[in-house]
Amino acid sequence: MKTITSIKASKSQTPLVMITAYDALFASIFDKKVDMILVGDSLNMSFNKAADTLSATMDIMIYHTKAVCAGAKDTFIICDMPFGTYTDAKTALKNASRVYQESGAHAVKIEGGKERAAIIKALTDNSIAVMGHIGLMPQFVRSEGGYKVKGRKEEEIKKLIEDAKAVEEAGAFCLVIEGVIASVAEEISRSITIPTIGIGAGSGTDGQVLVWSDAFGFFNEFQPKFVKRYLDGHRLIEEALDAYVQEVKTRKFPAEEHTY
Ligand code: KIV
Repeated sequence: MKTITSIKASKSQTPLVMITAYDALFASIFDKKVDMILVGDSLNMSFNKAADTLSATMDIMIYHTKAVCAGAKDTFIICDMPFGTYTDAKTALKNASRVYQESGAHAVKIEGGKERAAIIKALTDNSIAVMGHIGLMPQFVRSEGGYKVKGRKEEEIKKLIEDAKAVEEAGAFCLVIEGVIASVAEEISRSITIPTIGIGAGSGTDGQVLVWSDAFGFFNEFQPKFVKRYLDGHRLIEEALDAYVQEVKTRKFPAEEHTY
């Protein structure tokens, strides 16, 4: 199982693999097969049908993180801090402490760069491991007026590099780079010593993360360009469900072997 030390040592080595999970059932399938599991607040969209991640709460995240920890006992687990729960150092410390006290998560994830560095430092100074997240930050969707790929303009590139350095200096052990032009994500990765995990950020990062329901074809609403579907889950479940419905209706199920 990965630790903070071995994750940090993975910089520029074989890419790290992270996937999201939201429950014990799927977490137990992913256990030991990936390096890290992220209990992402993306669950609010893929599992709760909300339009964005902003209405996820601390209680929701802790409930799902506990479930994932129960299912994946041998994998490094990160709990996403939901919107509005780390607005200042004191609030962040109170809420992130809940993650450690109430779930078995090994770290928390926080969106934001330079402007959040003091908050990240308050957590790392108090023995809470923090994964950073810069670039396209889903919790900024309403204030930025949409999901915007970053790193197209010179001043954006400069800010992204400054953000990455600030997050590293604040003590984060790893950094998610989301929705960033590939060459820029590579430059960011080269400019810091902690590993970077990309999503929609090309192949030049130290690892990759995908939302599991996107990767396995269960989220059918839309398919972003950066997602590769490794399974047509929605169709397979539908086919199986149709077969079940059909067999019940025709009294084919339960058969003799399913009967006491
Ligand atoms: O919430 C989430 O799943 C995330 C990943 C997309 C990195 O933050």
